[in-house]
Amino acid sequence: STPSLLILPGDGIGPEVMAEVVKVIDWFGAKRDLPFEVSEDLVGGAAYDKHGTPLHDDTMARAQEVDAVLLGAVGGPKYDDLDFSLKPERGLLRLRKEMDLFANLRPAQCFDALADFSSLKRDVVAGLDIMIVRELTSGIYFGEPRGIFKEGNERVGVNTQRYTESEIERVARSAFELARKRGNKVCSMEKANVMESGILWREVVQKVHDADYADVELSHMYADAGAMQLCRWPKQFDVIVTDNLFGDILSDAAAMLTGSLGMLPSASLGAPMENGRPKALYEPVHGSAPDIAGQGKANPIACILSFAMALRYSFDLGEEATRVEKAVEKVLADGKRTADLLGEDGIEPVSTSEMGDAILAALDAS
Ligand code: NAI
Ligand code: MG
Repeated sequence: STPSLLILPGDGIGPEVMAEVVKVIDWFGAKRDLPFEVSEDLVGGAAYDKHGTPLHDDTMARAQEVDAVLLGAVGGPKYDDLDFSLKPERGLLRLRKEMDLFANLRPAQCFDALADFSSLKRDVVAGLDIMIVRELTSGIYFGEPRGIFKEGNERVGVNTQRYTESEIERVARSAFELARKRGNKVCSMEKANVMESGILWREVVQKVHDADYADVELSHMYADAGAMQLCRWPKQFDVIVTDNLFGDILSDAAAMLTGSLGMLPSASLGAPMENGRPKALYEPVHGSAPDIAGQGKANPIACILSFAMALRYSFDLGEEATRVEKAVEKVLADGKRTADLLGEDGIEPVSTSEMGDAILAALDAS
């Protein structure tokens, strides 16, 4: 059957940035028959307004069937007083949970034109393109026992880092598969020097590699040393795979190598479906930005780059993905900037739709 993409624009700037993605999809559609079909539905506050729930069961079922979901953003002050179970964010959490998305992909990409935005030196970050794969559903954020307990006459706060072999194996597989579509290199990060879970992590990743991915270059690094190396010379990495806690910290740090929130795409992958493709949810890292919603100020690039990731990792359209990324790069090199990307240089910002149009023009020229 035809591969399928489900679009969930959501709330706030979600629909605004998604409208620019739809233009890119239509551009590809006009050039040639798109090898996948696209449908659209509601999530978050938009779904609550229509159905009284932040994610309708039909939408959930559809998300389970499609090859990829692309989400804008959810949330907004309008929904602040809602019951916890009805809040827009619950719609997104339900998607992540029921799709069992255990691998969170956070690329850190630095376009040359924005290299001066980074807090690091230009040549350290210009042209950077790395991917952090963070285990998302297990580890210390979920392990039992957890809680604040009484111990003698004081309290003790407890969390447990716990990983099964199969949990480590599946996220390692995701990382190796990704590496094959990129630079063919994986660095696994843990703290095997001081943590039992780290010892098991290193052993399982190595075993999966030797059995099925010997063609991919694998190295291991202690996560603290990895943090140093990320700041010192991030271009040494291609794919980094790590656990939930270390991945949380390392991916936020890596994001800052590259500049604005409006530029950051992400993806979350689950287990392979019958057709061999992993379940997948793509979304910009940013939220619904109520402070700028409805003003045409939002940067659509994070959402457009999330779509490019879907092309590469869910639809095997790596060439098309590169074409989109190159178009973004060209537009930035030409000096086009949404307001979030402006420094002190007195450039007039472009609107959300002007940025989208400029990217289409760059696609035309490519
Ligand atoms: P946010 O990411 O929405 O905004 C943070 C700041 O970055 C704001 O000043 C905003 O204007 C700016 N910004 C964000 N995306 C931008 C873009 N594409 N272009 C230009 N500027 C951009 O985070 P915030 O303000 O903490 O949360 C706002 C709402 O979004 C809340 O309801 C929150 O729950 C929700 N949220 C949803 C997420 C999701 O859908 N995955 C993730 C984070 C927050
Ligand atoms: Mg974080």
